[in-house]
Amino acid sequence: MDPTVAVVGPGAIGTTVAAALHEVGRTPRICGRTARERLELRVGEDRVVVPGPVRIDPARAAGAVDLVFLAVKSTQIETAAPWLTGLCGADTVVCVLQNGVEQVSMVAPHLSGARVIPSVVWFPAQARSDGSVWLRGQARLTLPDAPASRVALEALRGTRCSVDLAMDFTSVAWRKLLQNAVAGLMVLTGRRSGMFARADIAELSLAYLRECLEVARAEGAVLSDDVPREIVDGFRSYPADMGTSILADREAGRPLEWDTRNGVVSRRGRAHGIPTPISDLVVPLLAAAGDGPG
Ligand SMILES: NC(=O)c1ccc[n+]([C@@H]2O[C@H](COP(=O)([O-])OP(=O)(O)OC[C@H]3O[C@@H](n4cnc5c(N)ncnc54)[C@H](OP(=O)(O)O)[C@@H]3O)[C@@H](O)[C@H]2O)c1
Repeated sequence: MDPTVAVVGPGAIGTTVAAALHEVGRTPRICGRTARERLELRVGEDRVVVPGPVRIDPARAAGAVDLVFLAVKSTQIETAAPWLTGLCGADTVVCVLQNGVEQVSMVAPHLSGARVIPSVVWFPAQARSDGSVWLRGQARLTLPDAPASRVALEALRGTRCSVDLAMDFTSVAWRKLLQNAVAGLMVLTGRRSGMFARADIAELSLAYLRECLEVARAEGAVLSDDVPREIVDGFRSYPADMGTSILADREAGRPLEWDTRNGVVSRRGRAHGIPTPISDLVVPLLAAAGDGPG
């Protein structure tokens, strides 16, 4: 029998996963903050409509499910926690679909009994002004190769969202974190991926990434010296108008995930005694851009 699934946070990533499940007849329960009748995903010429309604009252979560995909922003975990209470039983697995390397430590305190697995979300998805979500790449997740990941693998089997299991999840997660950290520079310039074509931005990005790499290695990630260059080359290969979710949040005046995407490097660097001068400049600027005052 297919596992029962709920998606908490039907935004860009949550809608993509909900649509992938719905397309193969495994329509999830949808739990959000804003009431809506349906979700809509656009992929090229395809349009997938996921029937709702989006539930907005955690007191009416309607009982435990086998699997929760938690796709709220890291800044929204506290306020979404009542959903976890309503949807989790002793055997529930919560798969966190977020950026960052602290997913388990941030979500686990909100669970009693349920297991939590982190993920790396590889695909770009963008909310559009008409309420639909535009999937701008191949939907793909990486999960740790652990028993609890099996239920998520099973739920997404045969869907448009592929799942890889990583033996060394720490390295994969930190590699993605490095990509997220440098993408944060787009918030400071108000520009998209095209800005990495500039030699001065490429040079700054490489220096920042080398600093992040040192912290990642201290955290146990096994990543080669080539990673900073690969990441910068990646941004240079994207369409010039490709943004990042932290830039979309900045443009919309929403809170920023600066702490989980950038602050973590200075925090973990400090814990290991590694100097992080570039982070120490970037992080307060991102924090002020997101949180003010002013
Ligand atoms: N978008 C991407 O391309 C991308 C790629 C890789 C990783 N990520 C990461 O994936 C995570 C999700 O990002 P996203 O872009 O999907 O964000 P998003 O579009 O803002 O989606 C978040 C969703 O959570 C909902 N929400 C907020 N508070 C809630 C609550 N208390 N209870 C239930 N739902 C709540 C929001 O509702 P409202 O509709 O009311 O705002 C929204 O639907 C982030 O960590 C992001 O960094 C994103």
